Amino acid sequence: MSDLREKFVVGNWKEKIPPGGFEYYVYKLNKFMQTRRSFSMCTPTVVICPGDVFIDSMKRQAKCFQVGAQNVHADLAADRAYTGRSTADALAWAGAKFCIVGHSECRRDFGETEDLIAQKVIELLRCSADLITPIICVGEDDWVREESDEAAELFVRGQVRHILESMPEKLVEWVMIAYEPIWAIGTGKVPTPEQIASMANAIGVELFAHSDDSVDELPPILYGGSVNAGNAAEIADIEGIDGVLVGGASLDGKTFGQIIREYCQ
Ligand code: PGA
Repeated sequence: MSDLREKFVVGNWKEKIPPGGFEYYVYKLNKFMQTRRSFSMCTPTVVICPGDVFIDSMKRQAKCFQVGAQNVHADLAADRAYTGRSTADALAWAGAKFCIVGHSECRRDFGETEDLIAQKVIELLRCSADLITPIICVGEDDWVREESDEAAELFVRGQVRHILESMPEKLVEWVMIAYEPIWAIGTGKVPTPEQIASMANAIGVELFAHSDDSVDELPPILYGGSVNAGNAAEIADIEGIDGVLVGGASLDGKTFGQIIREYCQ
């Protein structure tokens, strides 16, 4: 890890609770981060995205890390009522500072389209541009990657472009992109460092085309999909990648700590 851009290590608990329990995990993560901060010149921004029901309580207990949500409600038709959803205002009230949007599991299971995902990003930023940072997930299926690396990059660029084109240009600087190949999520398979670097570059081209910022100030790009303690160091060294979105491995405090350590200097 060489450049001076801010780094992010984001844990996505999904529907799960760590095996040792919520309170114990938060206590240990606070302690770990306090220790890392006293020994490191630079530590990453660490974010835990638990189920919505935990956000408020986690926010109260989190001393050295941030809390995020896993999804947000938006309605393309507007003005309908929805049971069981959390709005951007509700998440902000509970203390979420980040929110995952467009996760492939939500695209698959809830039929989330690019238009709806763009609407969610706008909802989050409407709350107040720097209140909740949207972490926009994009990524190709295995059959696209098997076709060719170029096909995968074209596919992901299309996803990013569609969302960015639906947003006011001045808001683009407030988002983050997480490149999560669908075939890598929960499977133990990970693209090569070259494939990830090349994808980061392709996403950067789209970000650059849709924002007023210089290349140095473009939004962060994370990698997600089977990140673990064994591959975190290699991923941390990939040029153009500013951190990781970690699913299963974030539930184990020790493993998550090992991943965070790769981003401490
Ligand atoms: P994984 O999940 O790390 O368990 O592959 C990543 C994600 O779904 O965000």
